[in-house]
Amino acid sequence: MNAAKILVLNGPNLNMLGLREPEIYGRETLDDLNAKCVEKAAKLGLEADCRQSNIEGEMVTWIQGARTSHKGIILNAGAYTHTSVALHDALLASELPVIEVHLSNIFGRESFRHHSYISPIAAGVICGFGSLGYDLALEAMAKQVA
Ligand code: DQA
Repeated sequence: MNAAKILVLNGPNLNMLGLREPEIYGRETLDDLNAKCVEKAAKLGLEADCRQSNIEGEMVTWIQGARTSHKGIILNAGAYTHTSVALHDALLASELPVIEVHLSNIFGRESFRHHSYISPIAAGVICGFGSLGYDLALEAMAKQVA
């Protein structure tokens, strides 16, 4: 049987991990993070399909496509978390379980980061634990798709 495919989608500026504000986001690069996700997913009998985009429309298109090819979505939408009705709508249309992840604790930061368009439609939200959050999200996703 094929492993359930999970879209692990990172949004804008997350390609800059390791360089960008390391005191907030850590020293790990996106490649490091993706490699860890692939490994963790395999241990859980899942397949992590890791993607990143700085373009909102591209993320919408990938989320729409996941509807038929994937079993769930782990999403760190970066700043689009706080602005994007389009991502909210695309996630609803996908009819897939969604887990929202943030590296930083968005509730301990500026007030404009406290609102998320993703949280109301997510199965759960994990923030503040750095890259461990993706591991935890994969564990939770394994239960969601079981
Ligand atoms: C982030 C938090 C967002 O507020 C920010 O815009 C990001 C990263 C996080 O992972 O902590 O780009 O999603």
